[in-house]
Amino acid sequence: MCGIIGYTGSANAVPKITKGLEVLEYRGYDSVGIAARTSDGVTTVKCRGRIGSLEEKLERNPIENCTCAIGHTRWATHGGPSDVNAHPHRAGRVVLVHNGIIENYKVLKEEMMKKEVTFLSETDTEVAAAVLNDCYAETGDPMTAIRQATAKMKGSYAFGILFDEFPGEVWAVRTGSPLILAKGQDGYYLASDMTALLPFTKEYYCLEEGQLAHLTPTSAVLYGSDENPKVPDWSITAMTPESAQKGGFKHFMLKEIFEQPEAIMKSVSPRIVDGLPNFSADGITADFWRQVKNIQIVACGSAMHAGLVGGRLLEEIAGVPTSSYIASEFRYHPPLAVDGTLVVVISQSGETADTLAALRYAKESGLPTVSIVNAVGTTIAREADRCVYTYAGPEIAVATTKGYCTQVSVLYMMAAAIAHATGRIDDTEARDLARSIAEDAPKAVLDMLERSEELRQMSARLAAREHIFYIGRGLDYAMSQEGALKLKEISYIHCEAYAAGELKHGTISLIEEGTPVIAITTEAALYDKTESNVREVRSRGAYVIMLCREDAPNPETSADEVIYLPTKSTAASLFAAMTAVQMLAYETADRLDLDVDRPRNLAKSVTVE
Ligand code: F6R
Repeated sequence: MCGIIGYTGSANAVPKITKGLEVLEYRGYDSVGIAARTSDGVTTVKCRGRIGSLEEKLERNPIENCTCAIGHTRWATHGGPSDVNAHPHRAGRVVLVHNGIIENYKVLKEEMMKKEVTFLSETDTEVAAAVLNDCYAETGDPMTAIRQATAKMKGSYAFGILFDEFPGEVWAVRTGSPLILAKGQDGYYLASDMTALLPFTKEYYCLEEGQLAHLTPTSAVLYGSDENPKVPDWSITAMTPESAQKGGFKHFMLKEIFEQPEAIMKSVSPRIVDGLPNFSADGITADFWRQVKNIQIVACGSAMHAGLVGGRLLEEIAGVPTSSYIASEFRYHPPLAVDGTLVVVISQSGETADTLAALRYAKESGLPTVSIVNAVGTTIAREADRCVYTYAGPEIAVATTKGYCTQVSVLYMMAAAIAHATGRIDDTEARDLARSIAEDAPKAVLDMLERSEELRQMSARLAAREHIFYIGRGLDYAMSQEGALKLKEISYIHCEAYAAGELKHGTISLIEEGTPVIAITTEAALYDKTESNVREVRSRGAYVIMLCREDAPNPETSADEVIYLPTKSTAASLFAAMTAVQMLAYETADRLDLDVDRPRNLAKSVTVE
């Protein structure tokens, strides 16, 4: 999704902006641009396509003596990808870049057109620029103009703004879309994403909702709803520039799959005290868990799939009725809350618009909320009553792997904590469960990764097909849904997940000679039933790859290929299967020579509803 980078200081701004734009590439974009302030005014260079095209333009017409600039990567929403729709946009004496969506842009555009304003692009952003310029023309004061203009806008926005009359100064404001300030040795920065700031500095501040920032080469000042200026309360990020680089791996996705053992350990170990599951460091006491009678998990995409797996674990281990909802649907048929309902929202980026809207809806409904978030200081992390961070580190590949896997590990630990707090399991059982999550899970991921070549061989058959099915029961059905999403989103092969017992109620008619069916059977108690479903599809021509426990009775007689999973604990088999489906997806897409890290049409952080 769109990305913003800005700088003002004593150094050459253009290389900084292009560097920041390169880092933002992973978010997904289709056009790119820069507005650079020089002694001659503001020069804008922008184009459809990749940063390489922008750099070629900049090489042909270099921008000299520039120490203040803003840049943008655009993921098209209003108007297709084109040079003219690319940001920055100018209106009168204002130049700006924008993330988010101005929902009432049509009304505002009509108002502006009545004032004889003409528009070059189809974007809502150019309309925002025109409204801001209109207010600026009346007041001559950037801050008042920004306040007046944003008061007219509905929707979500993060703006980086230059005003012609204020050389070397950058203004920023956000509502709904994230924006981070940073303080470097040689000036001040602005970005929509922490990773874009890592090449320059570690000192950062996340703008709050509605907050306005004014950056000069030597200062950063914040303005809230009152007039009183504030100095940012800077924090230091633990991320390093290396954490956002490939580190010798062919793709970020592969690197991130290999980072999973460490990410699981980092995410669960702060939640174990004296060997027992314990979330007190997150401000969640055993007493809080004891009040929980019902859990509603809300998230999007893979995070929702993590919720499906987590929901099973919460019900089985903690005995708490749990439902998982797609965030964009949550508001349209609000689930019935009972006394003791807890809403858990899950988001790797912490900024997903649908998840944020659902969180706000839950809070407005008076329900207690806990978020599970990876990106520190983000809106969902801040707005939930309590936040449990996953410590996966920056996730660059659009398709999540370590984000998902750490979400599951934290939910697993939550199930153990609730079960222990309510006395459903005793100390010994709780210790064993916590140990299995903290030790068996990372080990199982590592062991599966040692079998990468085996999985690569299997992917040859997948890469050659147009349709693939995942099947499973219970926990395995929940995991199948993530397996299918991972495979289809990066390989562009149609892949569906089915509850194993449901195929014969219609979908089995799609099985033909050679259709790959991947069956997951981590649950020993459900093996026989899923194995019968495997036989049903195989006798209709399916080519079956079965993921099953090492102690499964003769799986080779039922499936064409078998991936054995460890039996040491449920955590071990679950995380081994998770890694196998991620690797199958990765290897299939890589075999097809696709842009694994940046699949078409997708964006990393989906900040529009
Ligand atoms: C798929 C994927 C998406 C995200 C979804 C939610 O690989 O990454 O489905 O899981 O967009 O994103 P977050 O977790 O950032 O809220």
